[in-house]
Amino acid sequence: MAEHNAVDKKIENFDVMLSAEEIEGRVRTMAESISNDYRDKRPLMIGVLKGAVIFLSDLIRCLTIPVEIDFIAVSSYGNSTATSGVVRILKDLEQSIEGKDVLIVEDIVDTGLTLNYLVENLGSRQPKSLKVVTLLDKPDRRKVSFEPDYCGFIIPDRFVVGYGLDYGEDYRQLSDLRVINE
Ligand code: IMP
Ligand code: MG
Repeated sequence: MAEHNAVDKKIENFDVMLSAEEIEGRVRTMAESISNDYRDKRPLMIGVLKGAVIFLSDLIRCLTIPVEIDFIAVSSYGNSTATSGVVRILKDLEQSIEGKDVLIVEDIVDTGLTLNYLVENLGSRQPKSLKVVTLLDKPDRRKVSFEPDYCGFIIPDRFVVGYGLDYGEDYRQLSDLRVINE
């Protein structure tokens, strides 16, 4: 319990980078763009576990088109191999995506390795189309070139938590996005 108090105090010291209201407004406009671009379609939105869960759930509730959802979980092998772009699928999709309009939904693009791998892997499964939606983008940290099709916010090279993003599995439940102070 003493530990818990220490953590609570730390949260208050984290600077807010994006308020819940700012995120909500941006998610709404992203949903409008997607609803417009995919009108008369029924895309499959694939959330990348676990970080994208909150973003995906808010985003789909603002859409005016029908969608399906599925989830994929990936993990990189750790620092030494991360540079080689080795990504492991921990939980795969429940269905074939052949002939479907697919949107990968991610919390953040950092080095670009995860999405680079996912686009290549899912792209080889013959979807009709494949695009990437990310809430956040940290372009300063790229190891491989990668451009998301839809991006909520471009942010500076800081480690952020909240709105689904974690630091050692903590802080995912915060409704705003905060900076971890080193
Ligand atoms: P990438 O392969 O380096 O682009 O990795 C993206 C993944 O790293 C994201 O899906 C997050 O899980 C994690 N990540 C990158 N930057 C942050 C951050 O600032 N906060 C929390 N997680 C992050
Ligand atoms: Mg993630």
